[in-house]
Amino acid sequence: MARKGSVETRYGPGKYAAFHLLLGVWIRRYVRNGSCVYVTLGGTELRDIQSLIFINQALASSIYSFEIAADRFQLACESRDKLLKIGIKVECVPTSIFEYKRASNERHLFFLDLEGIYDLEYARDFELLFKSNTLREGDGLLVTSHLGHNPGYIKTVFRWFEREFQWLNITDTEEKRELYRVAHPSFVLYRALEQADLIDTLSLTCFGSVQYFDTSSMGLYGYAIGAGQTQFRNFIADTSARAFSIPTVRRPTAATR
Ligand SMILES: C[S@@+](CC[C@H](N)C(=O)[O-])C[C@H]1O[C@@H](n2cnc3c(N)ncnc32)[C@H](O)[C@@H]1O
Repeated sequence: MARKGSVETRYGPGKYAAFHLLLGVWIRRYVRNGSCVYVTLGGTELRDIQSLIFINQALASSIYSFEIAADRFQLACESRDKLLKIGIKVECVPTSIFEYKRASNERHLFFLDLEGIYDLEYARDFELLFKSNTLREGDGLLVTSHLGHNPGYIKTVFRWFEREFQWLNITDTEEKRELYRVAHPSFVLYRALEQADLIDTLSLTCFGSVQYFDTSSMGLYGYAIGAGQTQFRNFIADTSARAFSIPTVRRPTAATR
């Protein structure tokens, strides 16, 4: 399918404010003075890598940036070369991030910085990441999901997550809509864990989510993977309790000035 967006991936302040906020929470709660292997999606500018390095140069022991679009990959390599000149080493990889082969036991932080919706199709990819132990206890995961357009709530979203809404006894349409915005990546990850048969082995925690506005409304969701169990109701209750929103300021129009 043809890509809708332009070749260059340039985003506004909301995205990186959200990223800095969640990264700050993750470091404070889980990493402190430690380091991690950072595995991310490239785009063309590698801005998230610059953010990560700004927060703490010693945080990433190695950095892998995956980009499947050939034209973007070429620009990502140019950004990589600029970063190398200031001492930041990034390995750019021209394949899907789901082909990442983990080579160490060191803590990993994965950033699935998607342009579209983190929908149910990703459950299978994450099932395989869990099963292959690529995503494991001690790791962190950040995921973006597009919240901007109406994905077709009644015909699509409510059907995807019919089971989850039933488990939570949610029947009201507005309540379902609200919970979808705050928690749908948690629904997807829970399904992945269930399909991998690891519900009683791994504990998923949503340590925060941030809704922000870029060219449209987006959400960034942060997860920590630990040993233990994941109980669906608690997992979703914690996801809802840790939701944050970056306020958007509307510029005054001529009529209101
Ligand atoms: C939002 S951009 C990344 C922006 C980058 N994190 C930044 O802040 O500069 C996401 C990129 O990931 C690519 N992409 C999407 N799915 C992918 C996958 N499964 N593996 C590798 N690249 C993927 C898209 O082509 C797109 O260029």
